[in-house]
Amino acid sequence: MKNVEVNRIIMKINPIEKFQALYQTARAESTLQQKGAICISTLDSDGFPDSRFVDLKEVTAEGFIFCTDYESNKGKSISQNNKIGLTVWWEHIETQIRIKGKVSKVNTEQSQQYWLSRSRSAQLTTWASNQSQPLSHSVSLTNNLAKYSKEFETVEVPKPPMWGGYLIRPIHFEFLTFRQDRMHIREVISLIGDQWHKSFLQP
Ligand SMILES: Cc1cc2nc3c(=O)[nH]c(=O)nc-3n(C[C@H](O)[C@H](O)[C@H](O)COP(=O)(O)O)c2cc1C
Repeated sequence: MKNVEVNRIIMKINPIEKFQALYQTARAESTLQQKGAICISTLDSDGFPDSRFVDLKEVTAEGFIFCTDYESNKGKSISQNNKIGLTVWWEHIETQIRIKGKVSKVNTEQSQQYWLSRSRSAQLTTWASNQSQPLSHSVSLTNNLAKYSKEFETVEVPKPPMWGGYLIRPIHFEFLTFRQDRMHIREVISLIGDQWHKSFLQP
């Protein structure tokens, strides 16, 4: 009977809330400049995993939001395959988190809010650069930057149509607590149907 009760309590665990709690601690105790850096992995058109860091803009009850250029390499990969991986390693709290999920664009109004939270210089760089395109001799980022700085000199920099947010809706988490003796604790929380199920893996 006791085990049944314990299991019921475990089922109530919400892994997004667990992530949020760890993230808050990690941010509060971090000495890094880029406290929200997360690694996201997509599959490219040749089937190779492709990973890079982005800034975690927000954690909501639905999942994890980052912003980017929809026409970048990652944007193209996502349009072909919406399965995505998210990984963090927060050394100072000895925690690795691995997430699998499905990703989709947030709406334009939401993207607009994230756009407004960016610095003016970051906004202008977004206009000046076609993210992931080759940097050839015919492209001058300095000229592009000067062009857009002038164009938007007296107004707020508008959000370019190809820039916006993505929401990662998670289906699988692994929380690893690092141990010096390598006896790491690996807690897996997976979505089966509409229920989160918890188990442990050997280190
Ligand atoms: C700490 C850090 C944070 C970054 N944040 C973002 C971000 O929020 N959005 C973004 O598009 N690129 C960000 N970048 C750059 C990406 O890592 C990557 O170079 C860029 O998005 C192009 O990737 P792609 O060619 O795979 O699309 C960041 C890089 C670092 C190191």
